[in-house]
Amino acid sequence: MHVHRFERLWLVAALAMIVLFIGTVTYGAVGAGYGMVDDTGGQVDPTDATASENFREPGVYNGSEPGHYDVYIEAKQFLFVPGTSDPVRVPANSTVTFHVTSTDVVHGFEVVGTNINTMAVPGQVATVTVEFDEPDEYGLVCNEYCGSGHHTMEGSLHVVPAAQFNQTEVN
Ligand code: CUA
Repeated sequence: MHVHRFERLWLVAALAMIVLFIGTVTYGAVGAGYGMVDDTGGQVDPTDATASENFREPGVYNGSEPGHYDVYIEAKQFLFVPGTSDPVRVPANSTVTFHVTSTDVVHGFEVVGTNINTMAVPGQVATVTVEFDEPDEYGLVCNEYCGSGHHTMEGSLHVVPAAQFNQTEVN
């Protein structure tokens, strides 16, 4: 069977595009560190999250080694604790693990302008570890529709110069 040269060209181009599109969808789903909230953060009782060893009183804690911090964040209608009434403060040049859970409905926890973005699921603790090299200020937003005040659910994260970070801010 004779296939015209142009016909063959278009067949190859169409096949290449299909492979490319499947590739971009696959990368978007599983590449670049994306994943479902898994069980690494542990489970909690959403009605009493702090009673679990997997979650603490919301706030900033010293991590397992110097320069590492653990930040426990409770998301609830319609605020982040801490984050909304007071900014989350961590020092620059630090490694921070966020432990995020919800005590009512599903929320989102996104640090605007970064790749920090997770769901906050009742009963589940989501963990995200990141490094902050430079002092900066970031917004926090909830990106899962969680009720009538969803659009107001926001907060802030301040990465302050190490000299301005007071160890008394750590629980
Ligand atoms: Cu919380 Cu939307």
